Amino acid sequence: MSLRLQFDGLDERVWLNCAHQGPLPKPAVAAARRALDQKRSPWRIRDESFDEVPRRLKSALGRLVGVPPAEVILGNSTSYGLNLLTQGLPLRSGDEVLLIAGDFPATIYPWLPLQDRGVVVRLVEPGPEGLTAEFVDASITRATRVFCCSWVFSFTGRAIPLAAVAQVCRSRAVTFVLNCSQALGARPLDTPTAGIDALVGCGFKWLCGPYATGFAWIDPEVRETMTTPPAYWLTHQGAADVERTASYELHPVGAAAYDVFCTANFLNFPAWTASVELLVDQGIDRVAAHDQRLVQRLIDGLDESDYQLLSPRHPPERSTLVYVLHRRVPTDEVHARLSLAGVETAIRDGKLRISPHVYNEPAEIDQALDALTSEN
Ligand SMILES: Cc1ncc(COP(=O)(O)O)c(C=O)c1O
Repeated sequence: MSLRLQFDGLDERVWLNCAHQGPLPKPAVAAARRALDQKRSPWRIRDESFDEVPRRLKSALGRLVGVPPAEVILGNSTSYGLNLLTQGLPLRSGDEVLLIAGDFPATIYPWLPLQDRGVVVRLVEPGPEGLTAEFVDASITRATRVFCCSWVFSFTGRAIPLAAVAQVCRSRAVTFVLNCSQALGARPLDTPTAGIDALVGCGFKWLCGPYATGFAWIDPEVRETMTTPPAYWLTHQGAADVERTASYELHPVGAAAYDVFCTANFLNFPAWTASVELLVDQGIDRVAAHDQRLVQRLIDGLDESDYQLLSPRHPPERSTLVYVLHRRVPTDEVHARLSLAGVETAIRDGKLRISPHVYNEPAEIDQALDALTSEN
């Protein structure tokens, strides 16, 4: 069921590097072109669009993760959502934030400035079996207030046992913040039953949006504990009221208080909305099944006398990030060979990362396998 026909920019190369960036589908490109046309002739941007643009994106993201649109917080990155949490959660000196050593830097950095006010940021490293619920349970101390990690780890391709980890955090009264950037779009998520307290992610990978897009969701109970929400004038006043003498009153706006400023990001958000709608209309379960068929084909076709598979072999730990290492040939040579054959992959941590998504066809996996096996 590949969505290949909806992605018309991929004819020259085989793009097996979605963990880096996803391509824009046709409807998103059309939306971006419309936005450029509107900005060339600004009278085409209607006042109502200031409300419509964020509302439609929130609605698409709400469908994607199973939360009411009003609870979706619009951002420009994963880091945006994480910084809202690091700056807003009521963490005090002596409180501990638990993180995973080796996680992607975007998951770690936002917490580090908290050390200036005495918050302990502790990094723990799981064993070779990866992150387990038991490991999280054993790592939590009486001081732990927050546990934050990626759903799928960028440098190993391993997915965490989400439900079990969430259950541990809940039973130990620890706020669980999940970075879904390397997973959402390729794995379904039902936020209300997932047991997480906050979710952050970017739009430009598996959600096939433009760069500088992201979102967050924060459980309303957690949000209530957060200090001093930001205040953006358009959120409190509204574009239609702009001529009225300002009353400068703060209104109860809920999660919208945390939206990134200039929420009607006319160039980026309509395009991203089109991408998310395309995926959600297709059904993330179907997208995930397609992606996993491609991953299975890749793993099945790998000559393991030459290549070591480093990422998990089987679901559910297996993700759409496949890591391999040639047993004799340096990774940059293998990478260059693939590139010469028109196949785009990535090198991370000295290992080859291959990450297919919904626009890829089985024949493209075969093309990659051919290049991987040619003249060892
Ligand atoms: C796990 C993870 N989180 C976040 C990001 C990107 O972070 P941001 O959207 O803040 O630039 C990446 C990019 O590779 C990532 O792998």
